[in-house]
Amino acid sequence: MTDRTFAPAADGREEVRPEGPLEVDPPETAREEVLVLDFGGQYSQLIARRIRECGVYAELLPHDTELDAVRERRPAALVLSGGPASVYSDGAPALRRELLDLGIPVLGICYGMQAMVLRLGGRVEGAEAGEFGRTSLTLAGDGGRLLEGLPAEQQCWMSHRDTVFEAPAGFTALAASPGSPVAACEDPERGLYGIQFHPEVVHTPYGQRVLERFLREIAGCAGSWSPASVIDEQIARIRAQVGDAGVICGLSGGVDSATAAVLVHRAIGDQLTCVLVDHGLMRKNEAQQVVAAMRGLGVNLVHVDAGERFLSRLAGVDEPERKRKIIGEEFIRTFEDEAAKLADVGFLVQGTLYSDVIESGGDGRTADTIKSHHNVGGLPSELGFDLVEPLRMLFKDEVRAVAGELGLPDRVVWRQPFPGPGLAIRIVGGEVNADRLEALREADAILQEEVRAAGLYRDLWQSFCVLPVVRSVGVQGDGRTYAYPIVIRAVTSQDAMTADWARLPYDLLERVSNRIINEVAHVNRVALDISSKPPATIEWE
Ligand code: XMP
Repeated sequence: MTDRTFAPAADGREEVRPEGPLEVDPPETAREEVLVLDFGGQYSQLIARRIRECGVYAELLPHDTELDAVRERRPAALVLSGGPASVYSDGAPALRRELLDLGIPVLGICYGMQAMVLRLGGRVEGAEAGEFGRTSLTLAGDGGRLLEGLPAEQQCWMSHRDTVFEAPAGFTALAASPGSPVAACEDPERGLYGIQFHPEVVHTPYGQRVLERFLREIAGCAGSWSPASVIDEQIARIRAQVGDAGVICGLSGGVDSATAAVLVHRAIGDQLTCVLVDHGLMRKNEAQQVVAAMRGLGVNLVHVDAGERFLSRLAGVDEPERKRKIIGEEFIRTFEDEAAKLADVGFLVQGTLYSDVIESGGDGRTADTIKSHHNVGGLPSELGFDLVEPLRMLFKDEVRAVAGELGLPDRVVWRQPFPGPGLAIRIVGGEVNADRLEALREADAILQEEVRAAGLYRDLWQSFCVLPVVRSVGVQGDGRTYAYPIVIRAVTSQDAMTADWARLPYDLLERVSNRIINEVAHVNRVALDISSKPPATIEWE
């Protein structure tokens, strides 16, 4: 059944443009930006994020980006990231000498510092032991321009084997650690700075201060960028991109697609139609909340209630990859059917984030973390639409800031990640059917409610229930039961690449367990998953 409160008209469509800047051309980027040249370090993204947290827009580019491309961007500063290679290994990513002569301040971090020192004639050697983890850092004098004002002794986080033994001519050594005679150095005349430690990780308590000093005092950045400042810029861009064409957006229930949709709606009003393919595998009330939030903001929305269609295709399917495939295909088919009913659609909105762009090799070719199977529920480019991706340059936490600014309710803004195939991959070892879905959905709702009531929802990366399709004996009242267990899975994580099981308080676990067993039919047992990732994964599949 399709709930259509809005009929997209082929003609006579009223063009509603919300108030706001009306310029059609995207503004010239006069904004202050820093380019992080990526030498393949696992923290390169984090460097960009930390710089943005200082109020300066930062982007990650491959280390071998053409010199002219760098020059044209007129960056306020360059940062050379860390990387896994030894500066002496075959095929080690090379640093272009010319980058150091552009008259733009440069900060080299770890590998970036070593490459810079080596290029300028300093001494870098492969040390026997290297330094990994927390290390104490001792300033050599007053810390020079870069480290000025920092304690003489402090902790920092290191991860290197190659070590700088002598800074190049013209440089001053600023600090040392037990394994690094030159752990920081600078040549303020030429605007060149290097640190062996990682300022971007939380284990370097003064790291953010170091970045701030570099950006503000040295590169002269004003630091007025904020995630919300992309709103006006994107509105202008979207208008210029789509003109008068119709635009369609698939909503998943998550914060990314909702934010992208509201942003596009701000730009082009009723030219946008959102489609929520409700596969019946979402959490309790989730579809309704998104529908209410979007319609509350005036967004045209087609809510396709396709639960039965999906369930019938999932009947008898035990194998997780088959479940994923069926759901993915059915999702696209349903979406296509809806798109075909709309006139003049030329563009598809997607909530692609900057981390997706980087991880799929789009802008940071050396980063070697690639997302694998996690895009089920996304829409393939074969649909034939041009893409509108207004969040392409934002990190997840920045999207949340934009979402709040655009007026999306907290419930949507702070929603934990949820897999595209939904509850189907949390019914493990057997088919998805209505009874099992109902039990899982109710149990999950109880867990969410209690986690929220305990004030822990935002501290957890994900919290959910799993229903393994095995039954065991229990006793309720005077009778024996033969019913399913529910497994509680709650994890903390930064990015889902690694995760730890959350130490939920016992009284919370007790409440959740009692409520699930008392309130949910077909369940007589609750267990807790205490595995980290790796070696386990977050989902059970
Ligand atoms: P794993 O289970 O691999 O999950 O540790 C990492 C993150 O990805 C999510 N996930 C999925 N998302 N389709 C999705 O859209 C999927 O098939 C899928 N499988 C896992 C998972 O919830 C976690 O955030």
